[in-house]
Amino acid sequence: MKIISLISQKGGTGKTTTATGLAVAAVAAGYSTAIIDIDPQANATNWRDRREAGGDPAVFSTQPIRLPQQLEQCRAAGAEFVFIDTPGKSDSAAIAAAKVADLVLIPAHNQAFDIETLAAVREVLDLAGKPRAAVVMNGIHPSAKSPVEKVREWFGEDYGLAVAPAFLSHRAAYADAPTTGQAAQEIDPTGKAAQEIEALLAFVLDSTRANSRISTTNKKEAANG
Ligand SMILES: Nc1ncnc2c1ncn2[C@@H]1O[C@H](COP(=O)(O)OP(=O)(O)OP(=O)(O)O)[C@@H](O)[C@H]1O
Ligand SMILES: [Mg+2]
Repeated sequence: MKIISLISQKGGTGKTTTATGLAVAAVAAGYSTAIIDIDPQANATNWRDRREAGGDPAVFSTQPIRLPQQLEQCRAAGAEFVFIDTPGKSDSAAIAAAKVADLVLIPAHNQAFDIETLAAVREVLDLAGKPRAAVVMNGIHPSAKSPVEKVREWFGEDYGLAVAPAFLSHRAAYADAPTTGQAAQEIDPTGKAAQEIEALLAFVLDSTRANSRISTTNKKEAANG
């Protein structure tokens, strides 16, 4: 079971959007997937309530202190991927989620107000034992050229954080999908948001070596071919 924690030290960076989008993509790729929601705001849990009944991913709402027990339940139920969604600004919740993670994703907008909080995220990661981590740029202008390279140049070594090669642009599909408990790729399966989430999932699969043999393809395709 691979654990991916979404953390930041600021509200509204895109943690829940990324967690729900990746979890839905992982389910579509054939992985047994759950979300653990340790944000008292419960956005991911409420999102699941708005989703049509019966569909994965399951979402479990719990307290940071109960994370080990909840993870054990997911493991016992056969989960292959667990995404942990955390509150905007809580050191203790972020540390708890980072400690158990195989990969930490840190959504951030390409703006000073988000970027300047990465120093605090770095401290959280250090306290959590330096898990593998990457910043995921969010809200990128849809026509931006080489956004990841620009961000790397801008803050690169300042925070000692890798920047994921995949990113999310500012798109209506991301903002509209949660209304019906969906992910962007479900309301616009052939759109650009679907491609972005797919690329980010490929990065997650590669980074967690869920299955290095099929790292950038999906499990269903691999099984068929
Ligand atoms: N790439 C995007 N394009 C358009 N809207 C987006 C995008 N990413 C996130 N949003 C919207 O921005 C808002 C904040 O996103 P989200 O709730 O995912 O952030 P968060 O980090 O989970 O916030 P919190 O810290 O409050 O939990 C939401 O209304 C969401 O729909
Ligand atoms: Mg959230």
